[in-house]
Amino acid sequence: MRNLLDINDLDNGIPRKLLETAKFYKNKGRGLVEGAPLLGRTLAMIFEKPSTRTRISFEVAMTELGGSAIYLDAKTMQMGRGETIADTARVLGRYLDGIMIRALKHDTLLQMATHSNIPVINGLTNLSHPCQIFADIMTFEEKLGEIENKTVAWIGDGNNMANSWIHAAKVFNFKLRLACPKSRMPHEGFIKWAKDNNANIEITDDPRKASKNANAILTDTWISMGEEDIDNPEIIFNKFQVNEDLFKEANENAIFMHCLPAHRGQEVTKEIIDGPRSVVWDEAENRLHIQKAILSWALADKLI
Ligand code: CP
Ligand code: NVA
Repeated sequence: MRNLLDINDLDNGIPRKLLETAKFYKNKGRGLVEGAPLLGRTLAMIFEKPSTRTRISFEVAMTELGGSAIYLDAKTMQMGRGETIADTARVLGRYLDGIMIRALKHDTLLQMATHSNIPVINGLTNLSHPCQIFADIMTFEEKLGEIENKTVAWIGDGNNMANSWIHAAKVFNFKLRLACPKSRMPHEGFIKWAKDNNANIEITDDPRKASKNANAILTDTWISMGEEDIDNPEIIFNKFQVNEDLFKEANENAIFMHCLPAHRGQEVTKEIIDGPRSVVWDEAENRLHIQKAILSWALADKLI
């Protein structure tokens, strides 16, 4: 089954081919893709949390590939009042060609994949956000060339994005330094996976150390969706703001990345996110191009 649950469980070669396919689609420009590779196919997009970029980029990608997408708020499905994930998955397979789900719990995604006879795509869970990372790596490479052997610094919460960057560090062979508060380190399962697989990662609670000579500095919200119960985030994350001062540690031409939505004055200053180093709008745009690649692979087994 061509599921995209996490970057590290894709077969060898697929991650790089997805990036190449996304580049191909980007070069073709907007509008209906020649040959409409997903003509007559339908994607369900199930959301247990809010979304702007993921929802819109998947829906537009389906449209431009000749297919269509159905937005489903999980609360208004029978799932929201107790129908099992397994039964939902079995039923969806009778109507659809693929499922993209943004789930509160990673286990919901895994259960959906276990019981589905159509491809399942991770549109973000509490543990990971693989589609975003593909768009980010595409953006990094557009600006600075191949990511292999480069250095990426993650500053802030050890959240779903940080976890997926850990997978990416191994799959795309770059150095990842994560600076997170001691109480907000990345998930231990991902750290263990990195150790077992010799991923080139270093973890610290010192943002300056992590940013030293980095090619890119990355951050994300201090409070992810579903994590609203963190006490005193301003204290915990006080020294984890990405600002001009922190960028002095990085490479001269280092870029700033953020998956968005952003909180100016918290994890990043407006000078940085709205300044010349910021590539955040390209990251957001590249969500569309990578979704096209992911969908044409998952739903039609088509890659460049
Ligand atoms: N970056 C991202 O996934 O954004 P949305 O929450 O708007 O989908
Ligand atoms: N870490 C953030 C990412 C949002 C796209 C969250 O999970 O809310």
